[in-house]
Amino acid sequence: MSSVGQPLTRLEGRLKVTGGAQYTADVPLADALHAAIVHSTIANGRTISIDTGAAEKAPGVVAVLTYRNMPRMNPTPKPWRHLHPYGQGYLPLQDDQIHYAGQPVALVVANALDQAAYAGTLVKVEYDVQPAVVFNAETAKRAFDPPQFLWPVSSSVGDPAKGLADGAVRIESVYTTADRHHNQMEPHATMAIWDSSGALTIFEANQHIFGMREFVSIVLGVPQEKITVVSRFVGGGFGGKAYVWPHTLMAAVAARVVRRPVRIQLTRAQMYSMVGHQPATIQTITLAADKTGKLTGIRHDSISPTSVFDNYIEYAANASRSLWGASGGIATGHRIVHVNRNTPTVMRPPHEALGHVALEGAMDELAYAVDVDPVALRILNDTSVDPDTGRPFSTRAMHRCLTEGAQRFGWDKRNPAPRSMRDGRYLIGQGVASAIYTHWRWPAKARVVLRRDGSALVESGMHEIGCGTYTVMRQVAADALGLPPDRVDVHLGDTRLPASHGAIGSSTMANAGASVLLAANAVRDKAVALALTGRSAPFGGASAKDVLAANGGLAVADRTITYSDLLARNGLDVLTGDGDYDPVEEAKGPKAIFSFSAVFAEVRVDEELGLVRLNRFVGAYDAGKIINPRTARSQAIGGIIWGVGQALLEQSETDPQMGRFLHRNYSGYLVPTNADIPELEVIFAGEFDSEASLLGSKGLGELTGVSVAPAIVNAIYHATGKRIRELPVTVEKLL
Ligand code: MOS
Repeated sequence: MSSVGQPLTRLEGRLKVTGGAQYTADVPLADALHAAIVHSTIANGRTISIDTGAAEKAPGVVAVLTYRNMPRMNPTPKPWRHLHPYGQGYLPLQDDQIHYAGQPVALVVANALDQAAYAGTLVKVEYDVQPAVVFNAETAKRAFDPPQFLWPVSSSVGDPAKGLADGAVRIESVYTTADRHHNQMEPHATMAIWDSSGALTIFEANQHIFGMREFVSIVLGVPQEKITVVSRFVGGGFGGKAYVWPHTLMAAVAARVVRRPVRIQLTRAQMYSMVGHQPATIQTITLAADKTGKLTGIRHDSISPTSVFDNYIEYAANASRSLWGASGGIATGHRIVHVNRNTPTVMRPPHEALGHVALEGAMDELAYAVDVDPVALRILNDTSVDPDTGRPFSTRAMHRCLTEGAQRFGWDKRNPAPRSMRDGRYLIGQGVASAIYTHWRWPAKARVVLRRDGSALVESGMHEIGCGTYTVMRQVAADALGLPPDRVDVHLGDTRLPASHGAIGSSTMANAGASVLLAANAVRDKAVALALTGRSAPFGGASAKDVLAANGGLAVADRTITYSDLLARNGLDVLTGDGDYDPVEEAKGPKAIFSFSAVFAEVRVDEELGLVRLNRFVGAYDAGKIINPRTARSQAIGGIIWGVGQALLEQSETDPQMGRFLHRNYSGYLVPTNADIPELEVIFAGEFDSEASLLGSKGLGELTGVSVAPAIVNAIYHATGKRIRELPVTVEKLL
């Protein structure tokens, strides 16, 4: 029986729930030293003096590093970009400049963590303080056109100005989203170990070990062959662990200085300045439509902040490039503002989750303006061709997502008038939003090893970041080899394994998964060749195309042989197959490949208290072929909950004077908990997409976090008649 498509439980589930899974900070290491980071208390200026005398004399202290004695690193390549992955271009402890609050100014290395932390409090720093530049409506006026680092910064198809002018109805709105932080359960952790030959091993909570190896190689001037990065389990990534942040570099350099392994584990508060975050956006959107609601033009512009040294762009306006057709034209653009903060980064789901707030909010406004049902309006503007490139979509089950989602939700029972539905003291509101999500194509390699005992091992430099990667890789290899899934082991998260792209952009299944399929097919083909022509060939005279892999071995007509027999017969301990999947050229092909969704939210609003609660939620997703409905559903649940946080709770406020993030823990920065989340319903409405991947899969995980917020915001409008365009929708905005 095929295991792909089955809701298998997680290969590593037991390890995780029993505490047996070794996360980075769990890796035991005799003789490791601990490091504590001392941070800048100002956001802009420079250090005038740093007195480390008392810290150096404190108990257990081995070294105190500041820019004065920290070895110099190689500068990061210019221009800055972030796919390579250069989390932050400004490197720690290299000069006296201060560009953001929480920037490292010293690193204390000591025998014990408490000793390092205590000694850190003894470091005395004097500053030349300059005013902090923060992001707000005023500084947003200084926004400029940035250099491209992913997609083109702006786009224009057709004649957008004419399209907007031709519409009978226009919606012009400004939507804003808040600064947000990843806040993973597992804080970032690094352990750096140099051996006597000058080889470096880094244990790191990281989503992209090969990218980290490349970056560390550049900055430290150590050849990549001498660097190993290990990241076997990650307790939440969300993009925050996709790149390289200063603590990793400090650990590696410090370990070289003190000639001992060095550990750094970020505290919860440090996770707000030592690693990237999702930048706020100010988005201006204009929709024009004829009287029936058919779009004639879309214009969408977004402004977001970045650090003073890196040009990170949050591509929010991309949402409007390809989701809906507009007969006249579509224009989008992005600008950024340099402010005193650390460099922002991708946060699940970057770009799309922000842009859809404006686009799908404005679509709801349009639905009311033209008096067309919001589901019907979306069906009316559905398109089989990507408006941005003119390419037909490979698959696009938007219509199914909208209609099946609506049916499951009971959308037909909705009274469209705002404030028309009630449940006792609560106003009830129902909202819908659709989404489009990028299908990332990245190369990946894998190896599958068939062993003499008849089991197999999958080796891939991919990651398990909570999504179920171990499990789905097992399923793919098991089917290709005709093995029961529990006869397949999986090794991930180590640069000594075949090089993969990172666990980023919901691309693992389609790309790294395809490399595993190729590797499994390669080893099966070798086994078939052995059976046909190897020692005492059991299938002599048969044809390769008639051989099936099943029941732990091969079969042709009424002849069968197990893999263990086959290997034994040929005196082999293992048989190895390599997979090398490179879809980058394919991505330039004739089809536009995206995943899609339509999601439905029902809220209840306590008007007296300004409180919003989610009553129920239905998400319908087209992510192509679903390999494991259980892990896929768990991805969707995670994505929906994530979106609830974006809609109702998550915001990082900046002190306008001090220029620093204020709420640096789980009590100041709120995320949804169990009590916030009702029953969530998940529908998979996609089909095998042969253009998207050998496995037919498209990106799923991050798709499910897109458009949750606008669906909720639209539901709040339906409940209350108040259109809130600033996320999150907190109490004061509803009172
Ligand atoms: Mo995702 S933000 O690409 O980890």
